[in-house]
Amino acid sequence: MKKTTATFLEAKSKGRKLVVMTAYDYSMARLADPCDIDAILVGDSLGMVCLGYKDTLRVTMEDMIHHTKAVSRGRAEALLISDMPFMSYQVSVEEAVRNAGRLVQEGYAEAVKLEGGTDVLSHVKAIVKAQIPVMGHIGLTPQSVNILGGFKVQGRQLETAKKLIDDAKRLEDAGAFSITLECVPAALSQKITEAVSIPTIGIGAGASCDGQVLVFHDMLGMFPDMRPKFVKVFSDAGASMQEGIRKYAEEVRNGAFPTAEHSFTIDPEIIEKL
Ligand code: KIV
Repeated sequence: MKKTTATFLEAKSKGRKLVVMTAYDYSMARLADPCDIDAILVGDSLGMVCLGYKDTLRVTMEDMIHHTKAVSRGRAEALLISDMPFMSYQVSVEEAVRNAGRLVQEGYAEAVKLEGGTDVLSHVKAIVKAQIPVMGHIGLTPQSVNILGGFKVQGRQLETAKKLIDDAKRLEDAGAFSITLECVPAALSQKITEAVSIPTIGIGAGASCDGQVLVFHDMLGMFPDMRPKFVKVFSDAGASMQEGIRKYAEEVRNGAFPTAEHSFTIDPEIIEKL
C-alpha cells in the first residue's frame, strides 16, 4: 500500500511505530522498499556515506536532485522524503520554496526535510503553502556542526531542553507533518513526543519517539569511518560484501572464475576457420 503523509499522522493516532531509513540510489530503494518501511529519506548524509565528505555542508541541490531521482525510480510504496541541503533554504524564504519545488519537480520527492526550529518557521509555512509537505529536524542538526562545535547530544540543559519542546510545537503550528529528533536524550524526546500531535522520528533519541530513522550504511555495517552510539548494525552486509569481493579476487587469480557457466558459446567450426 502506498505510504503518504496521512500514513504518518494515522500511525501517531493509532500508536503504530513508523519505520524510516535512508537510501541514495535505485538499487538501495529496490532493496528497502519491499521491506515494509513507511518512508525513504534521501538524506544529505549522502555527502558523507556516498561522496566521502567529512560533513554534509558540501552537498548541493544538484546532488540531492540526482540521488532523489534515482531513488524515486526504485521505490513503489514508501513515502519519498528528500533533504534540503545546506544553503538551499537558509538565505531566504523565496529560495526555500523554489528549492523545495525543485526536489519535487525534478527529483520526484513527495516531501522535503529541513533542519532548524524557530529560525525556519516562515520557510516551513511558505513551503507547506506551496503544497509541499515538510518534515522538521531538530536536536543535532548536522548542517550547524560548526556552530554546535561538533556532532553532540543536544538539549541537556534546562533552557536548551525547553527550547527543543518549543521548537517542536512551533514546527507543528507552522504545518510540518513530522519532526526528526536527532541526538536528543530519551526522556526529553518523550516530553517532545507528548507535546505534539505530529509524529516524532528519532535517531539517537530513544524509544519513545513515534518512529525511528537510520542511515542505510550504518544499519547494514557499510560505513567503517564512524559508528555513533545510536547505531545498531542489524545485518553486517558490509562484512559479507567484503567476503564476496575477496572470494572474487581469489577465484580470478586461481582460475576458478569464470567457468563455462559464466561464458558464451560459439559454433566450434567457426573457431576452427579463424
Ligand atoms: O541526512 C540524513 O540522513 C538525516 C538523518 C540522519 C535523519 O538527516
